Amino acid sequence: MSMIYIRNAAQIATLSGASTKPKTGKEMDELDLIEDGGIVIEDGMFTFVGSNEDAFRYVESHSMSKQVLVLSAEGKTVTPGLIDPHTHVVFAGSREFELNLRLQGAKYMDILNAGGGILYSTERTREATEEQLIAETTKRLDRFLAYGVTTIEAKSGYGLRIEDELKQLRVARQLNAAHPVDLVSTFMGAHAVPAEFKGNTEGFVRTVIEEMIPAVAREELAEFCDVFCEEGAFTVEQSREILVAGKKWGLKPKIHADEIVPYGGAELAAELGAVSADHLLHASEEGIKLMAENGVIAVLLPGTAFFLMVQPAAARAMINAGVPVALSTDRNPGSSPTESLPFIMNLACLTMKMTPAEVLSACTINAAHAINRANVIGSIEVGKQADLVMFDAPNYLYLQYHYAVNLVDTVLKKGEVVIQ
Ligand code: NIG
Ligand code: FE
Repeated sequence: MSMIYIRNAAQIATLSGASTKPKTGKEMDELDLIEDGGIVIEDGMFTFVGSNEDAFRYVESHSMSKQVLVLSAEGKTVTPGLIDPHTHVVFAGSREFELNLRLQGAKYMDILNAGGGILYSTERTREATEEQLIAETTKRLDRFLAYGVTTIEAKSGYGLRIEDELKQLRVARQLNAAHPVDLVSTFMGAHAVPAEFKGNTEGFVRTVIEEMIPAVAREELAEFCDVFCEEGAFTVEQSREILVAGKKWGLKPKIHADEIVPYGGAELAAELGAVSADHLLHASEEGIKLMAENGVIAVLLPGTAFFLMVQPAAARAMINAGVPVALSTDRNPGSSPTESLPFIMNLACLTMKMTPAEVLSACTINAAHAINRANVIGSIEVGKQADLVMFDAPNYLYLQYHYAVNLVDTVLKKGEVVIQ
């Protein structure tokens, strides 16, 4: 039995008090800060969080014969382990050549419709063995961890036929067991229409509903179902049908909504009671209002807007309307090839005008809600899993100020030091 005592943290952003409901409005701007704080971890869980003085007393009276590992957090800011609620991390290959095409004016959807984009990554992923996918994805997970990310959501959607969708999800499951970063899986067979169904989107939708969803659910390979609801991908009606089918099999709905053009994705998310609607660059005012009324979390991806060189989502309007906001990298080979959630946080602050406190809420407790894990992670509270990050920063504001560098000093996952 061992104990970890984190002493003298310059600041702890606990994010406590929002485990039952995501933060909305002004709550997002409140972090529950402790100055000169101390944290005690036993058996992978937080058992004390408070002032350093009280933490020291707790250690004295509870350590008994236990070995105590003391970690100094002097001059450091401690936050919950960062959570990324939207990634497409399991895939093979890369698409750096698309950047030159886009710089010359090619549009993201034109590249896809010409058989590139997602379909290029699908070819590479179909060719790859599970071992290759594990090796490539492990490198990405290592980088996530180095940037303080301790849990991610991971979508399929580069298989686009049953055996390869299952392959991607099995890889995610294996990595969840083998790697310190936890992966929560989402089935996204409706990510694009594969070449063999070109011109027959309806036929592909039938395959997704009748074959893929039941197979994924039977093997318990995913918790969520996602659809690329977009002009040139899947219509609102097709998306509804797929997500309703997913629900019947116990997969909770998520939607890639209103990313490229206004399309009614936010409204559909509200109608279905989706856990989240993601992207939302072109969400309508009505859609935003309906999301707020139905408690749908907006997962915003300012890195994708940055990389596609377009305006990011209207985060301020969403927060003002009472929509709970979370943030994510959208890690994928085409529209957002980065694992740096801290840089995405910088972009959220500097390009969407979210405050540093809102940004931190969005990447911790609200992100935990977006993957249904807020009872276990997302805040530093007694009884929660001990996932935390120590940043080389005197306070949380500094994280959005000293931007685009890695300020991570130490990472703990389930009470184990995984980065130091
Ligand atoms: O979230 N928009 C659809 N899917 C991904 C991109 C996937 C890719 O380009 O490979 C996204 O941006
Ligand atoms: Fe995405």
